[in-house]
Amino acid sequence: MGRAVGFIGLGSMGLPMAQNLARAGFQVLAWNRTPKEAGGLTLVGSPKEAAEAGVVITMLADDAATEAVLPGILEGLPPGGLHIAMSTLGVPYSKALAERHRQAGKRYLAAPVFGRPEAAARGELRIVVAGAPSDVEEARPLLKALGQEVYEVGESPHLAHAVKLGGNFLIAAMLEALSEAYVLVEKNGVRREAFYEVVRGFFRSPVYENYGRILLERRFSPPGFRLRLGLKDTRLIHQAADTTHTPLPLGHLLLDRLLEGMARGMGEEDWTAILKLVEAKGGLNG
Ligand SMILES: NC(=O)c1ccc[n+]([C@@H]2O[C@H](COP(=O)([O-])OP(=O)(O)OC[C@H]3O[C@@H](n4cnc5c(N)ncnc54)[C@H](OP(=O)(O)O)[C@@H]3O)[C@@H](O)[C@H]2O)c1
Repeated sequence: MGRAVGFIGLGSMGLPMAQNLARAGFQVLAWNRTPKEAGGLTLVGSPKEAAEAGVVITMLADDAATEAVLPGILEGLPPGGLHIAMSTLGVPYSKALAERHRQAGKRYLAAPVFGRPEAAARGELRIVVAGAPSDVEEARPLLKALGQEVYEVGESPHLAHAVKLGGNFLIAAMLEALSEAYVLVEKNGVRREAFYEVVRGFFRSPVYENYGRILLERRFSPPGFRLRLGLKDTRLIHQAADTTHTPLPLGHLLLDRLLEGMARGMGEEDWTAILKLVEAKGGLNG
């Protein structure tokens, strides 16, 4: 059995990520708020026990979920122990986490990810990392087991969360634009499949390719990325804009769209389900 690592949060992303670490030979001491079946992992009874491994990864819904396990992490990590936050967190919260770990004599690295649960299961995430270079080196074997690319964006951990939010702003804008474009071409007599081939060929990117296909196949449920988490990210994008006086006109449109999805009870569907809202506005599907 290889080196031990704690893993907190076995949701849509966390479970396949933790299982990849186990497959790569790590002994994964895993904890989830709601007990789970989790083959290959050593389930422990608290966040503190997971952190006692000396290195602990969190992959939780949001800032509040991370805050809920933080006391256990700070208590369980040995002096100088390392917490790697891989969730999408707010920039101010990520800054506060850095300070609180420093005060407690523990280390904190931010490593949020791009890629949906299927990419996580294949170990093909794109990971954005920021923190002390020596911490990045220590984390590298773990990150290599989880992702196909690691982008280093600076020595202050919150920079990685800022990059992740900038990237998710682009993805959300692409999702809205692609949904509108599908409706537009269809209403002008084009088959969506034909349009998708053009998008795939000319706008070549794994993001367009993957999301274009999900929209085409209407894979809204079970969700890969829940609409309510998309709203959470959009709020974090606005928070990062607000605190730096950055106007974000497109961001307001995206916020409204996701609020509309919540209002229509779509929070647990995949966020690509916004296509249905765009279609309804265009008079398609009833
Ligand atoms: N899904 C994606 O495609 C994707 C891609 C990139 C990044 N992300 C980010 O990755 C993170 C995880 O996303 P996900 O899709 O895996 O979410 P998810 O399936 O909803 O899982 C959320 C996890 O957080 C836990 N949790 C929520 N509130 C908690 C609390 N108060 N205390 C303790 N644990 C709590 C849940 O535990 P329970 O099981 O007990 O509810 C679960 O383990 C999010 O920050 C998301 O934005 C997601």
